[in-house]
Amino acid sequence: MATLVTGGAGFIGSHIVVALHDAGRDVVVLDDFSNASRRVVDALRTLTGSHLPVVEGDAGDPDVLDAVFGGNRIDSVVHFAARKSVAESVSDPLGYYRSNLGSVIALAAAAIDRGVGRLVFSSSATVYGSTSALPVAEDSPTVPDSPYGQTKLMGERILADAAASSDMRAVMLRYFNPVGAHPSGVIGEDPSGEPANLVPRIMQVVAGRRDRLGVFGADYSTVDGTAVRDYVHVMDLAEGHVAALDTDIAPSSSRTYNLGTGSGTTVLQVLAAAEEALGTRIPYKVAERRPGDIEASWADCTRARDELGWQARRGLTQMLADHWNFVRQHLNGYES
Ligand code: UD1
Repeated sequence: MATLVTGGAGFIGSHIVVALHDAGRDVVVLDDFSNASRRVVDALRTLTGSHLPVVEGDAGDPDVLDAVFGGNRIDSVVHFAARKSVAESVSDPLGYYRSNLGSVIALAAAAIDRGVGRLVFSSSATVYGSTSALPVAEDSPTVPDSPYGQTKLMGERILADAAASSDMRAVMLRYFNPVGAHPSGVIGEDPSGEPANLVPRIMQVVAGRRDRLGVFGADYSTVDGTAVRDYVHVMDLAEGHVAALDTDIAPSSSRTYNLGTGSGTTVLQVLAAAEEALGTRIPYKVAERRPGDIEASWADCTRARDELGWQARRGLTQMLADHWNFVRQHLNGYES
């Protein structure tokens, strides 16, 4: 029996494919390559030393799903395939609702139809929005600030209801800020177009693509005035998915887990850690706050520790060193 990974060629998805393979599972990848390079497939085959079955298609297309479930013996699903730009979701909310929720509905229907026992959903800390007390726990209020965040929260709801009406189990994983890469540097984060996130932009400065980092706001009520996030190594996240597939939960039920480290780091602390990890100076300039940014967010990961037996093990220095190790081997992304 195999695990289907939708979006398995993406940044987080590709690392989960490797972790599942390392845990002894057979994996089938479904990806439409709209936001991922086909070269990721070669990289994954190299890393796993296996002929990884890959289906090219849209996870929201019932005909594609019919072919995937019909042609493979699948007993569990990890669903990543989704659009993920906050800004794009504000300018194209209907496109985001149609695409991100359409795929959840089609995939859940196909999975239940085929008697799949478990579906793990890629959710995000963005579901909490800016209102929660810190650290945020799974039962903290959920008030997403963007259509993208809404699609994650609604996706969770749809899957919980679908699980309750069937024999399937649904596990929602809310990621905090994923960074890092596989230690080999063979797979990693390759943003299409201009990256928006902090660590990819720091890497651009190190690679000489950007003169300096703009630090978005230094007047927050934090230790050094810059915003706080919970950065978590993508390999730790990947191991969290293996734990979510293994954990003992009852059929027809669902459970939600935060995946973070449980501690917050400011932008300037990330910069200092990157300078230390990479042994180079990284120039920066304080700029305006970025609209829509929240001051601080970090996770309470008690539930994942107690119920999944999972804890993040890798620290910030390793995240930054591993991230750079991928970037330096792929200065023009996967196409180089
Ligand atoms: C962002 C998204 C979030 C998404 C997450 C995925 C927004 C508002 N939020 O979260 O929905 O789930 O990415 O990874 O887009 N920063 C700088 N300079 C930069 C870039 C970032 O100072 O050039 C700061 C930001 O202001 C923020 C921190 O670094 O305080 C982290 O930013 P980022 O990596 O974009 O993550 P989030 O804002 O947490």
